[in-house]
Amino acid sequence: MKHLQSHGSLLPAAVAISLFSVWLLSAHVACRTAPSPSPSQNRNSNPWQSFHNFAGRRKGDHVSGLANIKQYLHEFGYISNSSNFTDSFDDTLESALKKYQQNFNLNATGVLDNTTVQRMVIPRCGNADIINGTSSMNSGKPARMTLHTVSHYSFFEGNPKWPESQYNLTYAFWPGNQLDNTTKTVFSRAFERWAAVTPLTFTETDYYLEAEIKIGFYVGDHGDGESFDGSMGTLAHSFSPTTGWFHLDNEEDWVVEGDVTKSSSTVAIDLESVAVHEIGHVLGLGHSSVEEAIMYPSISARTRKTELADDDIEGIQELYGGNPNSNSSSSSNRDDDSSDGGVRIMDWHRKLTMVMAALVSFGLLW
Ligand SMILES: *[C@@H]1O[C@H](CO)[C@@H](O)[C@H](O)[C@H]1NC(C)=O
Ligand SMILES: *[C@@H]1O[C@H](CO)[C@@H](O)[C@H](O)[C@H]1NC(C)=O
Ligand SMILES: *[C@@H]1O[C@H](CO)[C@@H](O)[C@H](O)[C@H]1NC(C)=O
Ligand SMILES: *[C@@H]1O[C@H](CO)[C@@H](O)[C@H](O)[C@H]1NC(C)=O
Ligand SMILES: *[C@@H]1O[C@H](CO)[C@@H](O)[C@H](O)[C@H]1NC(C)=O
Ligand SMILES: *[C@@H]1O[C@H](CO)[C@@H](O)[C@H](O)[C@H]1NC(C)=O
Ligand SMILES: *[C@@H]1O[C@H](CO)[C@@H](O)[C@H](O)[C@H]1NC(C)=O
Ligand SMILES: *[C@@H]1O[C@H](CO)[C@@H](O)[C@H](O)[C@H]1NC(C)=O
Repeated sequence: MKHLQSHGSLLPAAVAISLFSVWLLSAHVACRTAPSPSPSQNRNSNPWQSFHNFAGRRKGDHVSGLANIKQYLHEFGYISNSSNFTDSFDDTLESALKKYQQNFNLNATGVLDNTTVQRMVIPRCGNADIINGTSSMNSGKPARMTLHTVSHYSFFEGNPKWPESQYNLTYAFWPGNQLDNTTKTVFSRAFERWAAVTPLTFTETDYYLEAEIKIGFYVGDHGDGESFDGSMGTLAHSFSPTTGWFHLDNEEDWVVEGDVTKSSSTVAIDLESVAVHEIGHVLGLGHSSVEEAIMYPSISARTRKTELADDDIEGIQELYGGNPNSNSSSSSNRDDDSSDGGVRIMDWHRKLTMVMAALVSFGLLW
């Protein structure tokens, strides 16, 4: 979400009840199976398609519609000031672009080059990369450090997580969607990936309002201030702990089973891949600049990425520790002591690793 910190004060259950009737009227289910033709959807359905027109633009240019780029960068946290965007390529846009390019491992030139535009139009998670002006995604880290095993996972502001008393989490599907068992199984598999590397467990419940994690497919404006945008564009968004809201754009061409890479639809999105990512947010992870990581913000159509990367595992284990029932080796610690002291020690280890990686980089370069 754009402003996660501001949702902390909401009362999810109360709001959920008040919005329930609205959602009942507006949502329906359209999950599908690959490969499936999609007559109503085409290339032009990407809400960001027009961004290609701005390729090559740089500071000083003035071009009609450029304000949409600023709006995009605002939406994902790169421009904090939302008032009245103009079509001028100004200092604000240049510095926002540099931050974006840095987070996505591009040359941070501040020029809206082809490579950057091509990255921006890839479908992505609706959660912002920068929350409250603070980017932990790749901020301040020299690009060369990405050549080494440096962690780029991030947390939400204040590192919110589920308390130990809620490590056995329940999840429920919004009843209005009436999902079939095949679709529910996709989510179950996605939860299992996180359960395998943490002390957390996830159990489906039919009691929607009592579930800690509430999953629903919605269309457009669905009452949380973060409207969905139809096919492509933003795919889903989720709230930080302990809100537990996990929303998917019902207008995506979701592929529930079958090989998404062979889908005949150019806008087919793999449901499990997105589910694994969003659960990461529900558990407290922010975005990562590691492209292989599940928590990387974007995923192309017809792409499947469901395996947690080391970066994801290190991040989630810094919050919760490892799975006490597993003896698989991991680069992260296996300490399931989740006391503050434990967390601080883990954090210290992580910083030491980063310092050492920096030294290695330095040594290689000089
Ligand atoms: C950007 O890419 C398009 C093709 O995708 C190409 O026609 C155009 O010349 C490129 N523009 C720049 C500035 O490289
Ligand atoms: C927004 O931008 C205007 C003009 O650049 C500036 O005066 C104002 O302080 C900014 N507001 C915030 C919250 O940054
Ligand atoms: C937006 O900018 C235009 C042109 O600079 C100005 O005329 C208009 O009053 C501004 N609107 C707001 C709400 O600031
Ligand atoms: C960055 O710029 C260099 C030199 O211009 C180029 O070789 C490289 O491909 C660029 N990297 C990206 C990610 O665009
Ligand atoms: C941003 O973070 C600062 C410091 O943590 C906090 O005081 C402020 O309220 C936050 N801003 C918003 C809009 O939440
Ligand atoms: C969670 O469930 C496991 C058994 O699956 C149990 O051993 C553990 O005590 C439970 N934890 C909490 C906090 O209830
Ligand atoms: C779906 O699963 C539920 C509970 O596991 C079961 O009762 C129901 O018969 C299943 N429905 C179908 C269509 O398989
Ligand atoms: C631990 O690892 C050993 C050897 O790989 C394996 O045989 C054993 O089943 C594992 N135990 C658990 C609880 O995973």
